[in-house]
Amino acid sequence: MEPQEYELMFEVETAHWWYLGMEKITRAILDQWHSAKPNSTVLDAGCGTGAAMSTYLADYGDVTGIDVSPLALGFCRKRNLTSLGLASVSYIPFPPASFDLVTSFDVLYEQAVPNDLAALTEFRRVLRPNGLTLLRLPAYNWLRGQHDLTIHTARRYTVPQVTRLLEDSGFQPVRVTYANTFLFPLALAKRLLERIFPPAPASSDLSVNVGRLNGLFKHILASEAFFVSRIGLPFGLSVIALARKPQTA
Ligand SMILES: C[S@@+](CC[C@H](N)C(=O)[O-])C[C@H]1O[C@@H](n2cnc3c(N)ncnc32)[C@H](O)[C@@H]1O
Repeated sequence: MEPQEYELMFEVETAHWWYLGMEKITRAILDQWHSAKPNSTVLDAGCGTGAAMSTYLADYGDVTGIDVSPLALGFCRKRNLTSLGLASVSYIPFPPASFDLVTSFDVLYEQAVPNDLAALTEFRRVLRPNGLTLLRLPAYNWLRGQHDLTIHTARRYTVPQVTRLLEDSGFQPVRVTYANTFLFPLALAKRLLERIFPPAPASSDLSVNVGRLNGLFKHILASEAFFVSRIGLPFGLSVIALARKPQTA
């Protein structure tokens, strides 16, 4: 990611509709599938500037974050997070079977992840048998926009692709679905407009101030929590995947 994107993320992620709505969706999935035991351990792989760790992930166990960017970890420390490691998802510096849950939100699509299958194989290695991984990824290569330039997108995904990746890395998919569906038409219109009138220089979606619509957008996205966790949605801007490491792996 471009360095300024970390600062932007740090500034907006505790109030921006997208983060708050995704928190509701993530909680709905974890509340349904991850029964946090007293000593549950969670790895947030690609923790960024630490919002998920410092807010809701702590409800699901003792959270450790790794990120490949010293800048990101610096922002995590500003949130008083200490259980942190400078490391890549490609080589996770923990022994096998160290965690009950590995989360990775919008990380595996990045150019700094040369091989997403290898990263998932690492997630499986550090998980305990029956442990869960929860992924969030951007959807559809054809939806690439200016934002993808600032965040260094290597690839965007479909549900069948993510399902295959999980199976190829030895996971049992539990739920793989699209999300951010209800606002999809607006995002599509934005992407099309960007193609006709490209903003210069490459701009980040996070810098778009939606003002009073922030609360409305948050509620619209959050209202997907039930569908994403219980049924699945047929299309959307993100792919969300929950998968289990088999007992016998
Ligand atoms: C879009 S941000 C998402 C951050 C956070 N997970 C969130 O949801 O806010 C992507 C993060 O992945 C990190 N990242 C990229 N490649 C990585 C790699 N190979 N290993 C670990 N982290 C990586 C980036 O430094 C960045 O912090």
